Amino acid sequence: MAATWTPDSWTRAEARQLPTYPDAAALAAATDQLASFPPLVFAGEARNLTADLADVAAGKAFLLQGGDCAESFAEFHPNTIRDTFRVILQMAVVLTFASKLPVVKLGRMAGQFAKPRSADLEDVGGVELPSYRGDIVNDIAFTPEGRAPDPQRMIRAYSQSAATLNLLRAFASGGYANLHQVHRWTHDFMGRSPWAAKYEDVADRIGEALEFMAACGIDAERVPQLKATSFYTSHEALLLRYEQALTRQDSLTGDWYDTSAHFLWIGDRTRFEGSAHVEYLRGIGNPIGMKCGPSLEPDALLRMLDTLNPGRVPGRMTLITRYGHDKIEAGLPKLVRAVQREGHPVVWSCDPMHGNVVKAANGYKTRPFERILAEVRGFFAVHRAEGSFAGGIHCEMTGQNVTECTGGAVDVTEQSLADRYHTHCDPRLNAGQSLELAFLLAEMLNNEMKHRRPAEAAQAA
Ligand code: TRP
Ligand code: MN
Repeated sequence: MAATWTPDSWTRAEARQLPTYPDAAALAAATDQLASFPPLVFAGEARNLTADLADVAAGKAFLLQGGDCAESFAEFHPNTIRDTFRVILQMAVVLTFASKLPVVKLGRMAGQFAKPRSADLEDVGGVELPSYRGDIVNDIAFTPEGRAPDPQRMIRAYSQSAATLNLLRAFASGGYANLHQVHRWTHDFMGRSPWAAKYEDVADRIGEALEFMAACGIDAERVPQLKATSFYTSHEALLLRYEQALTRQDSLTGDWYDTSAHFLWIGDRTRFEGSAHVEYLRGIGNPIGMKCGPSLEPDALLRMLDTLNPGRVPGRMTLITRYGHDKIEAGLPKLVRAVQREGHPVVWSCDPMHGNVVKAANGYKTRPFERILAEVRGFFAVHRAEGSFAGGIHCEMTGQNVTECTGGAVDVTEQSLADRYHTHCDPRLNAGQSLELAFLLAEMLNNEMKHRRPAEAAQAA
């Protein structure tokens, strides 16, 4: 690692997963323009998120991170944004109600465009072209023009992120997220799911509690927390040219922040030692995430933590584990023990999506809902056994009524995958499956809190 960090010091380290732009002048023109644009988020907001995540690390809050696998230019529509946002609100309500813990809401939204690929080139019938790396880089169409990395796409991704974030901010503080609206966040198409009825039940009880509190003189006029929520954004920090162009020095502290999102994470394929992505992330002040898969050894993790969070700031690091339903119980404990032994304050979050991809008989890439749940159960079991806090969930979901993951209460079968399989990336949970996951998660979290609270009460006595 270079001793001194600069926004471009990553260019002297080993970079994987980055596109090769054919026209250097066009690339420079685009990144210069981006560098002149306003930041999308403010450093103070990133610091607020770090503080919220420090509460999660301390077992006093829960992290809910979710959204599309990848956003796209074609699906850019206010209804899509609203629908994903409302499912996240529903999940947050269910989790808060069950656990009595605040929920930190973090969207995989407003910037989640770039995708890592297993090969640089794709071969279709003997023709080789660059792999599709997400709409911020090139087009999914398998033509030489489509697949050529185009730097102007970064400008378009920035604009789409700005508009998305603007709408999310409006929803979060303009009345849509008011707790009095709790009944209105349900989707019509969820009528068939037994979980929709359970949600109505929770919503009724919240409504009653609000009326009771209002009678006691506590209402949204006096307590603004009832009518607004904090909503943060995140994406994988993959396309470093883009992230660098949005890296700004905070005028209050002099520290550098990546102003493209509040939270950035580093993927399983770019988190090796000496990587350009690690070099970039170590210098920014934002809270950061790191995906941890079966290939990560405890010693390597500890070295990573020393590099990315040498000051051991609570809330700075979120470890997002993604093992697979049958590997988590064997693989995760050694990481937890190493981190606890060294005393690193981290948030442990469970990504039950990426280790559970299977190919259905008809060729569709899917994720069986039972395996997703099994990984979440394993996650809670390991943290219970190790005495650490199971602090968060990271999921790929959408507010749309898609059929991409099999299973759930309104059973999506392998045969019905073809009905509404819309993802151009990984299979996502639909709104019904997301709500079901939230209820099952709420039950586990509630058990966890019951288990922890007696100990706290004993300590206080
Ligand atoms: N402000 C609180 C929070 O964000 C309560 C709240 C308001 C809320 N609107 C919400 C909670 C929507 C969940 C969902 O936690
Ligand atoms: Mn994905």
